[in-house]
Amino acid sequence: MPILKVARLGHPVIRKQAELLTVQESQSPEIQRLIDDMIETMHEYDGVGLAAPQVHSSKQIAVIEVIQNPRYPEAPNIPLTILINPRITSRSKKIVEGWEGCLSIPDLRGLVPRNDSLACEALDRTGKPTKLEVDGFFARVIQHEWDHLQGNVYLDRMNNLNSLSHLSEFARFQLSSEEKDK
Ligand code: NI
Repeated sequence: MPILKVARLGHPVIRKQAELLTVQESQSPEIQRLIDDMIETMHEYDGVGLAAPQVHSSKQIAVIEVIQNPRYPEAPNIPLTILINPRITSRSKKIVEGWEGCLSIPDLRGLVPRNDSLACEALDRTGKPTKLEVDGFFARVIQHEWDHLQGNVYLDRMNNLNSLSHLSEFARFQLSSEEKDK
């Protein structure tokens, strides 16, 4: 399975609304192979999620998984989740800020306000409708990936850019101050 090239911010595919798939399309060998390649690519780059536009395919597909991720060492584990045509059907009023990065915006982190919990409907990779009710980091990752499918990125969601940090400065100044807060 090949590792796909990741599109970066500035490539038009990142700013385009992705296309919905029919159930039949979702079951085609091409789409099933794309899903396998997206999972492989997410693993290769230590992503916690990946949306199809990030690998130059403007389709409504996102893959999510966290298993002791080195880019997000504090993040709870999330089982492998494939979302086709996801819709966020309800969102909590409670908003929480958390750090996000993005494989399409390398080397940066920023504090992003997100709904603390949500309900999401989608097709799974077998084309079956599924409903998820999640909170915390899982809800954050779904909102991040859903944004990609609409042509948005986390920078668009930040209240301001004051927290935007390069990764090494994030490790130096943000992580260490959070350690002190504990
Ligand atoms: Ni991203």
